[in-house]
Amino acid sequence: MAVSASTWSPESWREHPALQQPEWPDAVAAAAAVERLKTSPPLVFAGEARQLRDSLARAIEGRAFLLQAGDCVESFNELSTMRIREKLKIMLQMSAVLTYGATLPVVKVGRIAGQFVKPRSDAIDADGLPSFRGHMIHDDARTEEARIANPQRMVEGYNQSAQTLNLLRAFTKGGYADLTQVHLWNQEFVSSSPEGRQYERLADEIERALQFMAACGIDLSAERRLHEVDVYTSHEGLLLDYEEGLTRKDSLTGDWYDCSAHLLWIGERTRQLDGAHVEFFSGVHNPLAVKLGPTATAAEVVELCERLNPTRIPGRLTLVARMGADRVRELLPTLLRAVSEEEQPVLWTCDPMHANTIRTADGVKTRRFDVVMSEVEGFFESCWETGVHPGGVHLEFTGQDVTECLGGADDVLESQLSSRYETLCDPRLNARQSLDLAFRLAELMQRAPR
Ligand code: PEP
Ligand code: CO
Repeated sequence: MAVSASTWSPESWREHPALQQPEWPDAVAAAAAVERLKTSPPLVFAGEARQLRDSLARAIEGRAFLLQAGDCVESFNELSTMRIREKLKIMLQMSAVLTYGATLPVVKVGRIAGQFVKPRSDAIDADGLPSFRGHMIHDDARTEEARIANPQRMVEGYNQSAQTLNLLRAFTKGGYADLTQVHLWNQEFVSSSPEGRQYERLADEIERALQFMAACGIDLSAERRLHEVDVYTSHEGLLLDYEEGLTRKDSLTGDWYDCSAHLLWIGERTRQLDGAHVEFFSGVHNPLAVKLGPTATAAEVVELCERLNPTRIPGRLTLVARMGADRVRELLPTLLRAVSEEEQPVLWTCDPMHANTIRTADGVKTRRFDVVMSEVEGFFESCWETGVHPGGVHLEFTGQDVTECLGGADDVLESQLSSRYETLCDPRLNARQSLDLAFRLAELMQRAPR
C-alpha cells in the first residue's frame, strides 16, 4: 500500500501488521504509558536531527564517515556516569584514529540513550522462558514472572534515556571531548596493550600537530570544533508504542519527528514493505537506517528507498548491510548497483557483527574479530567495485574490559570468554578490540582507489 502524507499519522502503523511487539497484559496500562510519553518533553530536537541528516549527506559524497556504535542492548541496571564516560572515550578514540588516519571527519552516532528493546528470532529461549526482549519491556531474570511485559517500563526507559543524554551532552560540550585531552581517552587497561601503545603514538602526533598550528599563530582556543564534538543518539525503532509516544510536530517546519533519538533504524526482522515499521518511519522526518541481511533482494531494497525517501533527500536514508563475511562479496554488489541505477542518494554502511554470530562448543554466543574484519573488507571491496562510497560502520562495542568476542591484537581466547562475559544480548567488541578495528579500518580507507 502506498503511503501518502494524507493517510499517515503517528498512529497509522496500528492498521498494519506489527512484528516483534510485546503483548502488554493490561491494554489500559499500556495506553496510559503511551499518553504519559506524549506529554513528556522530547529527548532530541528536530533541528539536531536535520543537522545529522546534513552530515550523513556529506558522507554519501565521501566527505565524511559514519561511526555508529554502542551496546547491543542497554541495561536499566547500568546507568552510571563512569560507564557512559567509558563508552564515549572509546568512541572518541576510534574517531581520532579514523579522522587522523583516513583524513575524513567522523560522524559519531551512539547506539545509546534508548537502545532498550530487542527483536528475537525465537519467542522462547533455551530455558523455555519467553525470550528476553530488553529492559523497556521486561526484566532479564530467568523466571516466568520477570518476563511479563510491563508498559511502565517505557516510562522508565524514557527517564533513563533522558539522564544518559544529559551526561552525553555535558561530556561532549563541557571540555571532556576537547582534542587537547586526546591522551586522557586511553583507559588504563587499554594503554598497556599493543593497540593502546599504537594509540599513544597517534595521540603524540595529534598533539604535535596542534602545537604546530599554535606555533603558526592559529588561536586554537577560539576554534570551537577542537573543544566540542557532536555525538548523536540512535536505537532500533522497534517498539512502536514508545516511538509513537515520543513523536512530535516540529513547530518550525510543521513536519513530524520521532524525538526519541536523532536517528532510528528498522531492523532486519521488521523491514517488511507492508509492515507497521515501514509505515511508521515513512512519516517521520528523522534520518533513518534500515538493516539488510542476506535475503534482501534488489527489488525490495529499491522499494524501501521509494517508500522511505520518495523525494530523494540526501542523508535521509542509510542502508546497513549485514550479509556475513562469507557472503558479502557475492550478495552486496547487486544491491549497490540497483540503488545506484535508481539514483537514490543512499549512505551505505556495514554492520559486520550481526551475520557473524557463532556459538562455541559450550554454547556461548560470540564473534571472531578476524571474521568481523573480513566482512568490513568485503564491504569496502564491494563498494569500490561498484563505484559507491563505503560510508561507515555499525558496531556493537563497550568501553568495558569484557571478554565477549574472540581474537584481536591482544587475543581473547575461547577459554577466557566466561571470565568477563557481561552482555545482556549479543557479544560486543571490548575497548581494545574496537581500537584495533579502528586502526585497521583507517588503513583500509587509505587503500581506496582514487
Ligand atoms: C541489532 O542491531 O542489534 C540487531 C538486532 O540487528 P539486525 O536487525 O541486523 O539483526
Ligand atoms: Co545485537
